Amino acid sequence: MKLDGCAAIRQLTDHSIEQPLQQLNVGAVRAAALGGENCNGLSAGDELVRPLAEFAFGDGKFLYINGGGLACLWHGPHSNSDLMTNNAPSETAVITVNELTKTFGRFTAVDQVSFRVMKGEIFGFLGPNGAGKSTTIRMLSGLLSSTAGTATVGGFDINTNPEQVRQHIGYMSQKFSLYKDLTVEENLVFFGGVYGMEGSRLRDRTRDIIALAELAGLERRQTGILSGALRQRLALGCAILHEPPILFLDEPTSGVDPISRRLFWDLIQNMARRGVTVLITTHFMDEAEFCDRIGLISGGRLIALDSPAHLKQTLVHEDLFEVALPVFRGAREHLENLDGLITSSYFGQRLHLFCKRGAYTTASLEQAIRTRGLDVQSIALAPISLEDAFIRLVQRPKNSDNS
Ligand SMILES: Nc1ncnc2c1ncn2[C@@H]1O[C@H](COP(=O)(O)OP(=O)(O)OP(=O)(O)O)[C@@H](O)[C@H]1O
Ligand SMILES: [Mg+2]
Repeated sequence: MKLDGCAAIRQLTDHSIEQPLQQLNVGAVRAAALGGENCNGLSAGDELVRPLAEFAFGDGKFLYINGGGLACLWHGPHSNSDLMTNNAPSETAVITVNELTKTFGRFTAVDQVSFRVMKGEIFGFLGPNGAGKSTTIRMLSGLLSSTAGTATVGGFDINTNPEQVRQHIGYMSQKFSLYKDLTVEENLVFFGGVYGMEGSRLRDRTRDIIALAELAGLERRQTGILSGALRQRLALGCAILHEPPILFLDEPTSGVDPISRRLFWDLIQNMARRGVTVLITTHFMDEAEFCDRIGLISGGRLIALDSPAHLKQTLVHEDLFEVALPVFRGAREHLENLDGLITSSYFGQRLHLFCKRGAYTTASLEQAIRTRGLDVQSIALAPISLEDAFIRLVQRPKNSDNS
């Protein structure tokens, strides 16, 4: 069925199915926006260059558009399994991961992880230390064999064709793998050589990367004496020298100041807009907000997979209270078995309490806290931030029937 403009949007939103929908021309959606249709996040003249754009409609329906112009529609907040199985036709997935597993001896570092990443998508991998993020990336980069499961990267099987995988990706390891005693230029030339580049192509790309990474004037500077931000940009430059369509970036911004982090993200977003697929890990929640979708991994398992906005919405059936206390010490322990409390965490100078929906008003919660011998300075219902969602999803509620 061919759909046009506003009618397309209207027809799409009238559907109540939970299956990928029919072909939709991306231009038609743009036309719909120009026609004044009420779709959040899309304004007149917007370029829909980023695949898997998503638009929330007022009635809780979402429209997803990928680079191929195919649309999928779900009603309301959807489950993770919808996203894992139905998010787009597989031919647009650049990375497909099915039950990927890695064990070291008897220890399972990555446990049956499945997800897909679409062309031009920025996919964020979040999780506590030791969750299995780097291990997954190293398997997907063809650097580490898997124990079980399958995955393809750029169409190449990581188990049977790791060499081809390596040729089609750029990989920035958690500890930048630059040679500190080489100069900036020598590092670029070295990594170009690793990818089989030579002659004018290598010269041209080296020049382009030095400009892109704003390293002009530093070509002959020894890498070991560069600042963290410059080293980071050089490491990214080395990873993209051969123009890979897929980038794996493992904590590329750790140890880098906020302004340099923002500049780095500008570079990443520009590349994604041009169709480069990015899988990135970070511990910074502000950076996670820049991702199209986030896979949350904990204890080797993928425990959530959604856009940043929907990750927060998955918890809307719970109330979050922000409580200021004059004395913090031991507060969480004091409240441990509070009826209706699901999880608690410290959040700056405040305590954040996830409670069963409707279990408390601010007044009754204050009363309950005071009954436990704690003084309360202020208490309010709070909007759920990505950091709240992250902590809530990673932290197991004490009583599982609370979850
Ligand atoms: N070669 C190895 N041998 C044994 N255990 C390993 C090996 N590599 C990783 N691990 C273990 O696997 C688990 C996952 O490690 P991984 O480096 O993937 O975590 P991560 O999510 O990247 O953590 P971080 O945020 O600290 O970088 C950890 O417990 C780690 O100690
Ligand atoms: Mg890691």
